[in-house]
Amino acid sequence: MKIFLVGFMGCGKSTKAKQLANLLECPVIDIDSVIVEEQGMSIADYFAAHGESAFRRLESEMLKSFHYPETCVVATGGGLPCYFDNMDWMNAHGITVYLEMTAPQLVSRLHNREKRPLLKGMDDEQLLTFIVDKLEERNQYYRKAKLSINSFDLDAKMLLDGIRRKEEG
Ligand code: S3P
Repeated sequence: MKIFLVGFMGCGKSTKAKQLANLLECPVIDIDSVIVEEQGMSIADYFAAHGESAFRRLESEMLKSFHYPETCVVATGGGLPCYFDNMDWMNAHGITVYLEMTAPQLVSRLHNREKRPLLKGMDDEQLLTFIVDKLEERNQYYRKAKLSINSFDLDAKMLLDGIRRKEEG
């Protein structure tokens, strides 16, 4: 089983991916970290040097060319499902899970904005407006996931139970 976690920045994809991988005793792959390692620079520096379009091409290439183990949990960047055919590709290669949160919940969790190029310099009010607008645009992609679940207070074990139920039926 390959589990792809999708959702907005700050919804807890990386943390939940690690917890799920611990429960399943399988590797965890974080596409952003793979890019950072391969490029030898942070995502913010990559955006600054090459621009967003180049980043979108690169993350799509990474997603599709990575050699995934048979069982693994994959954390994706918040924008990844919304470009090219990435969401369809993930649906064809594993089980996709949308870790959903409301805009105010996301604001309350997005403290470190400087490392995220799209959020740089925003105060809480600007961030809330940005998230509301972006969620409206992105939800059509996120909602293609096989399972959508509010992840604000979500225990990894409950998440895994939900995924298994979806897999079975
Ligand atoms: C992005 C989310 C980031 C990262 C990049 C762009 C987005 O990943 O891929 O900064 O467009 O939502 P996280 O969701 O892990 O912060």
